[in-house]
Amino acid sequence: MTPQDFDYLRQMLRERSGLMLSAEKQYLAESRLLPVARRHDLKTLGDLVAALRAKPAAPLVSEVVEAMTTNETFFFRDKVPFEHFRQTIMPALIEKRAREKRIRIWCAAAATGQEPYSLAMALREMAVTQPAIAGFRIDIVATDLSGEVLERARSGIYSQFEVQRGLPIQLLLKYFKQTGDAWQIAADIRSMVQLRTLNLLNDFSPLGTFDLVFCRNVLIYFEQPTKIGVFNRIAKQMPQDGFLVLGAAETVVGLTDAFKPVPDKRGLYAPTRRRGPAPTAISLDSRAPSTSIATGNSKKPRP
Ligand SMILES: C[S@@+](CC[C@H](N)C(=O)[O-])C[C@H]1O[C@@H](n2cnc3c(N)ncnc32)[C@H](O)[C@@H]1O
Repeated sequence: MTPQDFDYLRQMLRERSGLMLSAEKQYLAESRLLPVARRHDLKTLGDLVAALRAKPAAPLVSEVVEAMTTNETFFFRDKVPFEHFRQTIMPALIEKRAREKRIRIWCAAAATGQEPYSLAMALREMAVTQPAIAGFRIDIVATDLSGEVLERARSGIYSQFEVQRGLPIQLLLKYFKQTGDAWQIAADIRSMVQLRTLNLLNDFSPLGTFDLVFCRNVLIYFEQPTKIGVFNRIAKQMPQDGFLVLGAAETVVGLTDAFKPVPDKRGLYAPTRRRGPAPTAISLDSRAPSTSIATGNSKKPRP
């Protein structure tokens, strides 16, 4: 690949996904894109870039972008955010939403689904220890740029290696079924999560408002103005008493005053007081499933 081809790729990735590929990452582009080139009968990466230049709107572009994203994830990743979820976030939301009995959660870069399914399992476990959650309608919306990883999430099938990373054995035995060499997460846990393709660079206001947003280990790949834009748009989709959870290497500090860190809760942020208009009302897709934690059955969305 010539330096010009690599520059073209870097620019395309930045525009399409926010991903910043540094100059020394050419080896990464080569190892991830050669299989894409081969699938399309293109002999070299130069040929691949020529095909991209010729048809910048072709499905090949999405394939290249998806191949360049890092989809690393695992169940209950980093533990601490899930402790915040059980001990701080959910008790606060259960109290604050006692009247409407509805909570909306968004996993904004869900990859192969381990993060939203960890939240769903944690909610099921909480129903035993925190009976106040009974009768709440809780939506978990999980989105990602990549349709391919979401397909894997939809299947709910994980390898032995994947279920050994972060998932407590008792939850494996309780919520998964072994199918050959792999494990499939129970249908009722899968039904708690709505999966949708979404690029964080695009408008996400049609998703509605969220009481809790998990946006972890994706903004690290973006440059500062892109991060700031995403934070500010997330803040608009959140009530003032909502929560934002970021990855261990991410922060809002020095980037935006739309959120402030919650003291002594690493990775947890709260919206700052706004003077402007309240966020737009929930505009939930009326076909989307939702979950009653009390029963695990789907209910009709509120009109
Ligand atoms: C490293 S994974 C993080 C998964 C999970 N949140 C976690 O922390 O374990 C990053 C995910 O972000 C997705 N991604 C990258 N750029 C994106 C964008 N512009 N919009 C939405 N998702 C994006 C990738 O497809 C990938 O699945």
